[in-house]
Order: sequence, then C-alpha cells, then structure tokens
Amino acid sequence: MRILVVGGAGYIGSHMVKLLADAGHDVVVVDNLTAGYRDAVIAGDFIQADLADRASLDTVLGSGSFDGVMHFASYIQVGESVTAPAKYYQNNVANTLNLLDAMVEYGIRNFIFSSTAAVFGEPDYIPLDELHPKNPVNPYGRTKLMVEQILKDYDTAYGLKSVCLRYFNAAGAHPEGLLGERHDPETHLIPLVLQAASGRRDAIKVFGQDYPTPDGTCIRDYIHVMDLCDAHLLALEKLITHGKSEAFNLGNGNGFSVQEVIDTAEKVSGREIPVIAAERRSGDPARLVADSRKARELLGWEPHHADLAQIVAHAWEWEKHFGGLANPKS
Ligand code: UFG
Repeated sequence: MRILVVGGAGYIGSHMVKLLADAGHDVVVVDNLTAGYRDAVIAGDFIQADLADRASLDTVLGSGSFDGVMHFASYIQVGESVTAPAKYYQNNVANTLNLLDAMVEYGIRNFIFSSTAAVFGEPDYIPLDELHPKNPVNPYGRTKLMVEQILKDYDTAYGLKSVCLRYFNAAGAHPEGLLGERHDPETHLIPLVLQAASGRRDAIKVFGQDYPTPDGTCIRDYIHVMDLCDAHLLALEKLITHGKSEAFNLGNGNGFSVQEVIDTAEKVSGREIPVIAAERRSGDPARLVADSRKARELLGWEPHHADLAQIVAHAWEWEKHFGGLANPKS
C-alpha cells in the first residue's frame, strides 16, 4: 500500500512510519516539525508542510494515489488546551478539516484518526467501552470528539471512510532502541519518571496521593506504542476491505497506579527515584482503563507488549541515550 502519515515525525507517528516500512508499504510523511523531529523519520519520503497550508496539501495529495491517510498531527497537552484553546481548535480541528477536504477533493477515501480516551471525560464505569457516554472535560478532548463527529458527517456526505482509534496512555519505545518519546516539554508520567532515574530530572512529582484507589495514586492503562501502531495497520486493512467507519478503544485492559509505575521504573533501571508529593492535577480522573474487546474481535488486534515492565524497559533504553547512560562504564 501507499500510505500518507501526517505527523510522522512525532512520537507515535515516527514508530508508525517504521512499522509500515518494515511491513513493505510505501510511506510518505508530512510534518511541519513544530513538535516532531526530522531525524525521527527513519523510513519513507519526508515532506515538510503544514496542515494550515492547503496549497501544500493539494500538492502532496494530488501527487499520486494513496490507499490511506493516518493523522497523528495534533497538539496533545490537556493543560495547555485549557489556557490556549484557540491553538487547539485551530490545529486539531480546523487544520484537520483542511486535510479531510483535500482527501475528498483527490478521492482518497480511507482515514485513520488518532483519537483519545479524553473524549469520554470522567468515567461512569470502568473499563470504558466504545458505548460509554462522551463528555470531554477539556478543550483537548473536545477537539478530538469534534473530529470524530465531523468524520461521521463526511462519511455520510462524501463517502470518506474512517477509523477513530482512542488511545489510552501511549508509552514505551521502539524495542530496538531506534525511536522513542521526545516531547518538549515532556508531561507524560513514564518518560518523566525515567528522567528522574537517569538524573536528567531531580525527582518525580506525584500529582495526588489521596485518590480513591488502593495506594491513593491515579490508575491508568498504559499501552505500548508498537501495539498502537499494529492497531493502525489492522484498522486500515479492515477499512479497505470492509469499508465501514468505526471507533475503537485501545488499551491493555489493565490499570497501574502512578506509584506502581515508579516502583516498576526503579526495578527496571536499578536506580532509586526520588518522589515529591504534589497537589492533584486538575481534570485527572482517578481511574481510566480501556475495554478493547471490540478491537480484538473485529480487528484481530492482540497487544504484544502488555507487560508494564516491558513497556518501561523499552522507554528506559531510549532514555539512557539522553541521560548519557547509553554505554554505562561500570
Ligand atoms: N502524573 C504525575 N506526575 C507527573 C506526570 C503525570 O503524577 O509528573 C500522573 C498524572 O496525574 C496521571 C498519570 O500520571 O494520573 C498519567 O499522566 P500522563 O500525563 O502521563 O497521562 P494522562 O493520563 O493525563 O493523559 C493521557 C494522554 C492524553 C490523553 C489522556 C486520555 O497523555 O493525551 O491520556 O485519558 F488525553
């Protein structure tokens, strides 16, 4: 297949590009490099372009037939979306519309969209299946839900078929240490904990230790980035053969607390990780766990790296490069 990966220089997109190339597909990457890294694109063709620039999109999408488009190019910081909503609605919604309109114009029908567990808001029940009510509690989640809704209308009106993949907590890194998570600023728990282990950070702040969970810290469903990428390829293949727009929740179905993540990181790294007790972060639900049975049943998806220690170990291999520990002397 020939596949356009938008946001292919970012964390999940760059892993996707590598997986697609390894599976023998032709990949074209579009990224504006505001959050991505050119050197993270280790396969395929690269075009630096911005989704706000419709003329550039027309050039790329009109350049030859694509079997599908995968869209990873969104802003992802929940807190920033509250203080700078315009930035989020502009990029995550308006710029996505540019991409969709160009797809319609050039007759490209298959779209895989990176959605999020944040479309659900505060859970009514756990684990969350696809039918759970969708009441996002921040602009970030609302942008993703808006695009999901837009996609339904584009299917009805223009026949544009899509799969929305609602990620829970994406984590881990390429198993061979080729790629990993590189956000600036980094806000995610596992890379921050590992920065505290490598010495790039003094300590990890634990946001709230008084949640109604066994150890008082929040519980999340961490899913390996390569397992997420597997789901994208399966989703595109299914979309092409069956032509039915769908949404899937993607997680392992296991929840781990912030404290359990820290304990696991100490074991994996063999280092003590200093912890600072901090206030709750606003908008954090106590517990988020996915029910991914639909993806398993309809896509035949099976996570291969469901073990938290393995997810953390792959992220640790990546962190060691940055912490100057890639070739420990002792
Ligand atoms: N946490 C800390 N200290 C930190 C960072 C995080 O205690 O320094 C805690 C958070 O409070 C939360 C857990 O670790 O309880 C996980 O936090 P992350 O920021 O890593 O991830 P979130 O669960 O907040 O968010 C993730 C994605 C979002 C997405 C959301 C959907 O990053 O893009 O899942 O639920 F919207």
